[in-house]
Parts: sequence; structure tokens; C-alpha cells
Amino acid sequence: MAQTPVLNTARLTLRPFRLGDASRFVGLAGDLAVARMTSDIPHPLYIWQCRRWLRQARGEVRFAVEHQGELIGGVGYFCHRSRVGELGFWLGQDYWGKGFATEASRAVVTYAFTTGHLDALTSANFIDNPASARILTKLGFTANGRMRTQSIARGHEIDCTTWRLEREAAQVIYRLPQPSAAAAGGWMRLFARISGR
Ligand SMILES: CC(C)(COP(=O)(O)OP(=O)(O)OC[C@H]1O[C@@H](n2cnc3c(N)ncnc32)[C@H](O)[C@@H]1OP(=O)(O)O)[C@@H](O)C(=O)NCCC(=O)NCCS
Repeated sequence: MAQTPVLNTARLTLRPFRLGDASRFVGLAGDLAVARMTSDIPHPLYIWQCRRWLRQARGEVRFAVEHQGELIGGVGYFCHRSRVGELGFWLGQDYWGKGFATEASRAVVTYAFTTGHLDALTSANFIDNPASARILTKLGFTANGRMRTQSIARGHEIDCTTWRLEREAAQVIYRLPQPSAAAAGGWMRLFARISGR
């Protein structure tokens, strides 16, 4: 998989995670309010777990989200032996309610479809997380089912709504360049457009 690039949006910088993010990562994602809405962030969260996570990629494209030079969360997708990626996002609690998750996720969805040769993106939110459902709706995803998923932080399974965004729909919503144009650097021009540069 290609190296994670730096993407700029109107208010955010999305960049690869680095090992030096570990202590800030613990401060943000170590909050139970954040971890309990994800399937895979443990609580309590220890710095050694963060360091291990920061080293491993295993088919994931992960962006650290920065606002005014500070790490505030993460957005990424996991793509394992298929052309369907699974989108995830989280922010530290101090940064909720400002539209940052939508802004960062839009950039990552655009990137994923423009560079990733994906047929679709999926996602899922716990049913007690309406903010996440709202973001996925704003991103153009359609709810398509229910399943039960483990939350490591809560220590039990919870009902989830599952979501999907097909490439064809994304092509229209995000005004994506055709794959041939993307290969010729079209996605760089696209990011210049969405970041207003
Ligand atoms: C979910 C999360 C990413 C949202 O981040 P955010 O930056 O506050 O999200 P945004 O501001 O971009 O958008 C949130 C939307 O949900 C809406 N919303 C917030 N709380 C809501 C609620 N209780 N009920 C309904 N809608 C709600 C907001 O009004 C906003 O919609 P709008 O733009 O139409 O007004 C953040 O709360 C978080 O990190 N939570 C913990 C981890 C998590 O849940 N990750 C997602 C796992 S699927």
C-alpha cells in the first residue's frame, strides 16, 4: 500500500501517525467516552499499547488529524484482501461538536476512492452513537443492516448499524476524477480544490 500522504483541509492537517504521538494519543483516546464508542480501543489504554498500534499497519491507511499543530484524533480505513475498505474515525472529546470529524473523514473518503482502487467503503456505529450515524449520513453512506460487535472498552457486544458507500455514488457526491485521471495526479488537484488552495 502506498505511503500515507499529508492532506490539508480548510482547518485540518491529516498526516501519517508517528511514534512521538504515543503520549498525546493516550491522553485523547484513553478517555472512556472515546474508547467506548469504538470496537478496538481498550480502556484503560496504556502507552505501550499505543506504541505497538503506532508501529503496526497491516492493511490499514491511518491518518493522524491535527488542528492548529496539535494531534486531535484519527481517521482511517482498513482494507484486507478485498476492494472494500472499512472507515473509522475518532476525536478527543475537547474537539467534538465543531464539524472536525466530518471534515477529516470527507478528505479520507475522497483519498480512499481516488487512490485506493476501492469498490466501496463500509462503516458501523454502535446504536447509542447518533453523532457517528449523522456523520456517515453526511458523508453519503447508506445504512444497510444491523450486527452485534464487541466493544473492547465496554467488555461486551453492542448492536451496530452498518453502512456502505459504493464507488459509483462516491464518484458523484465527491466529484471524483476518473481512475485514469487520478493515476495522472488528479487527486492532488482534487485536494487543492477541497482545501481551497
Ligand atoms: C463521533 C465523533 C467522531 C463526532 O465528532 P465531531 O467532530 O463532533 O462530529 P461532527 O461535528 O463532524 O458531526 C457530528 C454530527 O452529529 C450530530 N450530533 C451530535 N450529537 C448528536 C446526537 N446526540 N444525536 C444526533 N445527532 C448528533 C451533530 O449535530 C453533527 O451533525 P450536524 O453537522 O448535522 O449538526 C466524536 O464524538 C468521537 O470521536 N466520538 C468517540 C469515538 C467515536 O464515536 N468514533 C466513531 C465510531 S463509529
